[in-house]
Amino acid sequence: MIPTLTWTPEGVRFIDQTKLPLEENYVLATTYEQVADVIVTMVVRGAPAIGVSAAYGIALGAQQTKAETAGEFGTEFERICARLAGTRPTAVNLFWAIDRMKKLFTGFGFDTPISIVREKLLADANAMYNEDIAACKAMGAFGGSLLPDEGGVLTHCNAGALATCGYGTALGVIRSAVEQGKRIHVYADETRPFLQGARLTAWELMADGIPTTVICDNMAASLMRAGRIKAVVVGADRIAANGDFANKIGTYNVAILAKEHGIPFYCAAPWSTIDLATPTGDAIPIEERSAIEVTHHGGKQLTPHGVGICNPAFDVTPAKYVTAIVTERGVLRAPYSEALREMEPAAK
Ligand code: MRU
Repeated sequence: MIPTLTWTPEGVRFIDQTKLPLEENYVLATTYEQVADVIVTMVVRGAPAIGVSAAYGIALGAQQTKAETAGEFGTEFERICARLAGTRPTAVNLFWAIDRMKKLFTGFGFDTPISIVREKLLADANAMYNEDIAACKAMGAFGGSLLPDEGGVLTHCNAGALATCGYGTALGVIRSAVEQGKRIHVYADETRPFLQGARLTAWELMADGIPTTVICDNMAASLMRAGRIKAVVVGADRIAANGDFANKIGTYNVAILAKEHGIPFYCAAPWSTIDLATPTGDAIPIEERSAIEVTHHGGKQLTPHGVGICNPAFDVTPAKYVTAIVTERGVLRAPYSEALREMEPAAK
């Protein structure tokens, strides 16, 4: 299994996603501040993976505190949570994981010994890790049957093992379809500017022997018109209450193209990505990242000095473009407001 992130007695170990596929390096974060840096710099990325990373960051902070009781640790705990919550704004899994740790912490009495706090916070981070893999497997089983028996499936960004604790959401659906005997050929959008598709999706699918072709982001329409794409499956960073969802910049373009060509467009995400408190996609905060991701590649400048740059990391795809949302609870169809509300209690 791809070791996206692993808890060790020394800290949290991450495969360095900024270096893949050319180098397989690992980064050991030994403090919660280092976990926060690893999220900001995208050594680890992908909505479910950053949620669980933050949970481990909090567990790490508890291991290192000098406080002797939950009460003494309280202010420091809040500071740790705030630092991790300030890393990236769009993926709701981050806030979901931090809130879950906060709820657990609130249940401790003032005099609860820190050894118990440490044990319980780490146990819950481990539980989130295992639940995430189980959710990916369940999504795979539900979503795999939606894909065609053979043909091209387009994906955007990396919603794979590297974006989760293992198996992946969109790529989990593809993996499961392949395990079901379907002859799928994956087309991976390169996903400018960070190249998650060209670097990460291609790397992990090739490791599994799944036929994969990388295309530039501007090639999808042409392939669709030529009949080479039979379905699209992507992940999500946040799904609003009406089914609008944020995902990597460029997802919206693909959704429009799929609709125009009559191609089913699926979004696969665990329940931790669903945010019923956000009514529509318009209310999802979109992260703006550094201009250097656009102006430079591999340390080399690509654009004229001083040119204006815009670098939103995500866009919002309106629910009307989504054929189905695949979750670990099952496959949801429009109208999504109702479908999400109905399935919410089951997820608790
Ligand atoms: O900026 P990133 O690489 O963290 O963006 C990741 C994505 O947009 C993924 O598609 C999304 O998090 C789903 S991952 C299962």
